[in-house]
Amino acid sequence: MNKHISVMPEKAIEMLNIKEDGIYVDGTLGRGGHSKRILEKLKNGRLYCFDLDEEAIRESKEFLKDYNNVFFIHDNFKNIANYVEHADGILLDLGVSSPQFDEGDRGFSYRYDGPLDMRMDKDGNLSAYEVVNEYSIEKLEKILREYGEERFARRIAGQIVKQRPISTTLELVEAIKSAIPAKFLNRKGHPAKQTFQAIRIEVNQELENLKAFLEETDRILNEKGRLVIITFHSLEDRIVKQYFKKLTTVVDDKRIALRPEEVKTADYRLLNHGEKASEEEILMNRRSKSAIIRGVEKAYGKNR
Ligand SMILES: C[S@@+](CC[C@H](N)C(=O)[O-])C[C@H]1O[C@@H](n2cnc3c(N)ncnc32)[C@H](O)[C@@H]1O
Repeated sequence: MNKHISVMPEKAIEMLNIKEDGIYVDGTLGRGGHSKRILEKLKNGRLYCFDLDEEAIRESKEFLKDYNNVFFIHDNFKNIANYVEHADGILLDLGVSSPQFDEGDRGFSYRYDGPLDMRMDKDGNLSAYEVVNEYSIEKLEKILREYGEERFARRIAGQIVKQRPISTTLELVEAIKSAIPAKFLNRKGHPAKQTFQAIRIEVNQELENLKAFLEETDRILNEKGRLVIITFHSLEDRIVKQYFKKLTTVVDDKRIALRPEEVKTADYRLLNHGEKASEEEILMNRRSKSAIIRGVEKAYGKNR
């Protein structure tokens, strides 16, 4: 039940265009599915894997024990530059893994009862309990609206504050349900889905981590190096899409008369325009339904 099925594995590996002696980074190790595929393509190359979740590191160490060219780092991927100087490819497969979601006591799921936790890193300071029980109504509403794109953000924040203290996931589900007008309770998807997503993003500072990480990658990627990212909701995808657009936009300021050699060409090229999982994969793995994969390749460094 706890097995994590990797999303778009073949596509991710194809986009990374792995060189057998290259240096690679898997920023979101999880249960090691993508990492194993990278390792299978390496000879003298090396792979650095990050995860905030100690359990992911422990289980993957066992899963990948036959390889001596893999290094495990229990830290946030935004700190990549503290560990890796250069890389030929970097992969992120964002979000929560199936084991995190399926174990009630991690507090990520609206389906199983558990404590309000939702920390990927069990050493993290902020848990869902503090967000739910200590944040002001205004702050809760803002998070639900921005990170959950929840149309009933105001009503849900109001009910949460009214029903505090709330200490378990199912108590939170009840508070959410009591805030949503009856005719909307049977709308598509679970009524607590967006609120749980919003709280999880806040607890783990997911969007800030992604932005901070992206800013680090240019320093690390070698020429022709590739950056490939799988996202699971529109907020993450927007950040990646906009950043890739910035990297691949030609700077050609028409207001200034430049000699041809001074016209700055883009330093990166897009590998695709965002692709989704196939119908077949979605049938086999529900998690892949909302996934979008994007990638860029660093150009020859003409402008460096
Ligand atoms: C979707 S899973 C990755 C699954 C993996 N690709 C596989 O095939 O098994 C995402 C993982 O990234 C980790 N994670 C999320 N944000 C992170 C961050 N900022 N730094 C390090 N790890 C993070 C989570 O703990 C989780 O284990």
